[in-house]
Amino acid sequence: MEPRPPVALVTGAANGIGRAIAERLRNDGFAVAAVDVESISPEAGGEAPGGQLASGSSDGASGPASGWASGPASGWASGPASGWASGEPAGADAAGRIVPYTADVADLDGHDRLLDRVEDELGALAALVNVAGILVPEPVAKLTLAAYRHQHAVLLDGPVWLARSAGLRMAARHCGRIVNITSVHATNGEAASLAYDTAKAGLEAATRTLAIELGPCGVLVNSVAPGFVQTRMSIVDGRDETESEWFRQIYLEHGRLPLRRAAQPAEIAAAVSHLVSPDNTYLTGQRVVVDGGLIVTF
Ligand SMILES: NC(=O)c1ccc[n+]([C@@H]2O[C@H](COP(=O)([O-])OP(=O)(O)OC[C@H]3O[C@@H](n4cnc5c(N)ncnc54)[C@H](O)[C@@H]3O)[C@@H](O)[C@H]2O)c1
Repeated sequence: MEPRPPVALVTGAANGIGRAIAERLRNDGFAVAAVDVESISPEAGGEAPGGQLASGSSDGASGPASGWASGPASGWASGPASGWASGEPAGADAAGRIVPYTADVADLDGHDRLLDRVEDELGALAALVNVAGILVPEPVAKLTLAAYRHQHAVLLDGPVWLARSAGLRMAARHCGRIVNITSVHATNGEAASLAYDTAKAGLEAATRTLAIELGPCGVLVNSVAPGFVQTRMSIVDGRDETESEWFRQIYLEHGRLPLRRAAQPAEIAAAVSHLVSPDNTYLTGQRVVVDGGLIVTF
């Protein structure tokens, strides 16, 4: 039987960090189900006009991580949690590709339909990366209950419930990796971020509980907490805050940010790449902070 490619589902894959993660995992040899409420552009390796799926195989050959170079399935098969290697054959031709799916992570009732579709079309899910997010800064006095609930639906309920549904499927096969993208906001507060901060902290708590319950079944669950990352989310009131005067003064001149620059999305993707790879055999329940040293200063 042909070795099958591992399948990864990445939410929020149309832009920024999610897009970088989808591209990185494609380069690592995954068949990537790229999920977003927005459409995935062909440059990201998604569906080209006319419905053809763009192949990422040439990128994959020269990609930054060559863990799957000898066949994507082999790494998992040799690891201690190799259940997916004995599943049904499916999707071998989808290796090194990004396949777009339109879905709203806040639609909890739609998760199983989405997972059924992805697994029917690409094969059993080996990895889930919850990235989709929104940032709606609002001071406490102006925050409405509806806005609070909406942010929690996207940033907390959606990823937690998707991780639960995907995690149970992975547990039944005794193999899987889940990564939740949180934020330094999960542990460090900022004004006008009540809904965002509480949602990210909740997602880190969920990461720990899921890791405890799913660990015995071969499913490793971690979170990655970025600091400042240059994406459209760092654009506030039309200005990229990482290029503003206050950012330069506080974080660069006064040294609050040891690496003296914001991250690029690919630098977050590099951490995720390890956590979902077969090289990660013993790291679970953890918060991996990728922030250029931001939260170790004061
Ligand atoms: N950019 C930063 O500085 C930074 C820092 C820390 C954490 N994060 C986190 O990283 C993640 C990605 O952020 P980004 O900076 O790439 O932002 P982004 O706006 O570039 O990308 C977010 C993506 O999520 C999608 N999305 C939003 N709501 C969705 C929903 N309900 N269902 C499906 N998809 C949805 C958007 O369409 C978009 O493609 C977020 O969870 C964010 O909180 C970002």
